[in-house]
Amino acid sequence: MTLKELSIIPEPVNISSKEGAFTLNKKTLILTDLKLIAIAEQLKQVLLSTLGLNIAIKEDLQTKESNNVIILKTVNNEKQLKHESYSLIVSQDRIEIVASTPNGVFYGIQTMRQLIPLEAIGGKNINLEFSIPCVVIEDYPRFKWRGFMLDVGRHFFTKSEVKKVLDLMAFLKLNKFHFHLTEDQGWRVEIKKYPLLTEIGSKREGTIASQGSFRSNRKNKVPLDGVPVSGYYTQQDLIELIQYATERFITIIPELDFPGHTTAALAAYPELSCTGGPFKVSTRFGIHKEVLCIGKEKVFEFTQNVLNEIIEIFPSKIIHIGGDEAPKKRWKNCLDCQARIKNEELGSVENLQVYFTNRIADYLESKGKQIIGWNEILNDKLNENAICHYWTANLKQVLEHARLGREVVMSEMSAVYLNYPYKIIPLERSYNYEPIPNELEAKYHDKILGIEACLWTEFVKNKKTLEWQAFPRLIAIAETGWIPKNKKNFKTFQKRLETFNKWLDFFKVSYAKKEEFDIINSN
Ligand code: ACM
Ligand code: ZN
Repeated sequence: MTLKELSIIPEPVNISSKEGAFTLNKKTLILTDLKLIAIAEQLKQVLLSTLGLNIAIKEDLQTKESNNVIILKTVNNEKQLKHESYSLIVSQDRIEIVASTPNGVFYGIQTMRQLIPLEAIGGKNINLEFSIPCVVIEDYPRFKWRGFMLDVGRHFFTKSEVKKVLDLMAFLKLNKFHFHLTEDQGWRVEIKKYPLLTEIGSKREGTIASQGSFRSNRKNKVPLDGVPVSGYYTQQDLIELIQYATERFITIIPELDFPGHTTAALAAYPELSCTGGPFKVSTRFGIHKEVLCIGKEKVFEFTQNVLNEIIEIFPSKIIHIGGDEAPKKRWKNCLDCQARIKNEELGSVENLQVYFTNRIADYLESKGKQIIGWNEILNDKLNENAICHYWTANLKQVLEHARLGREVVMSEMSAVYLNYPYKIIPLERSYNYEPIPNELEAKYHDKILGIEACLWTEFVKNKKTLEWQAFPRLIAIAETGWIPKNKKNFKTFQKRLETFNKWLDFFKVSYAKKEEFDIINSN
């Protein structure tokens, strides 16, 4: 097999193909140790579901058996020290996956899966003998943050739909699932101390029927479509999803969006607003003027109590607190907000949000956590350990943040917002997006933690549309997250994508096909 025929996404950093092949069959044995036994079990399950091949695992790395084996092991040598790195060596008598950490071994397995001959997937080979081409791969990621965000506020996605997303992320070596859990149109996480958040806040009576533009429906004049939307995750559901993600080396970063995008929460607890309400869970999209009142202490009590339950469930050190699109109109006319500005000597309404953000950041820091927020949280007075999640507008301010030695995750709207139609963000645009801004001096490059694709779901009502919008653009973004900048090549990517699509067919993913990109507007 020539190198050209190997088709792996993300493309490994170093790959060389060799003569010959390993024959995977019923007698193949997985050899590993206790530390990696759960990963070995996953490999076993993958081979069973992909090929119909059921092989045994032996927890013994000292064994003399060295023929027809798949060895999974961790070592402490310098070569393997790069975080998440692995080596995968396929020779005629064995496959060896070696890393310094279990996640490296896991990624080696993901690469090995893509060496399985395509014609064998789906368990059609009754001889149960499969050729894996001999190859030497040394591989490691470019970025430590390789993310995907799913908005479940606008439309709810079930646990099993989320699990499928996590499976696909793992296959692409993505490692951060940003779970956007609260919105104007729906609060989707059970909080025991505030049951109305889900009793009231997780349900809306419908959605504006005209989806043409956010602006045209601002005054609620457009009729509703009459289709109620509801749903939320219990804390037990979330624990199950976190477990599922953890087994796939994915950290779930929960986002509770404060102080804007909180209409659903205010419908449940209107006393947290400046005006007192009443409010309804929103049935339209766009920026909403109702926000948390920053003048009232009970808002801080609420936010901290909610976050207490969140950090009990989510082990992630990093918690996303939103912070985008919070208009100041209500704060300007609120006596409590004005008193806060005066008493805290904030100078103007412009500094109310940073006051809020810093109090929440301090609180979470006291619990061993760190915040990330959308780039609207940036302010001269922002706490230094707050991570900036860039999405739009003020790149200059984001560069300054990085130059102060502070961290950034990049989600440039015009490249990685997967809700946009392919006409507006073509696959090539997503692929060629470079997360480290040109203007940023090399000494600050490590402040760019990585790249994250975002899928907002105003107009994504079901799993089929979710998959169509995300794939193949998420595949392109996963490659940017992993491979060195100078290895990126859209031409070879497109070629490899043809092979990858066969995997998507096997996983029953409703991806957008090349011939559809230009003719179908996803709206
Ligand atoms: C955002 O797209 N409002 C972060
Ligand atoms: Zn107020």
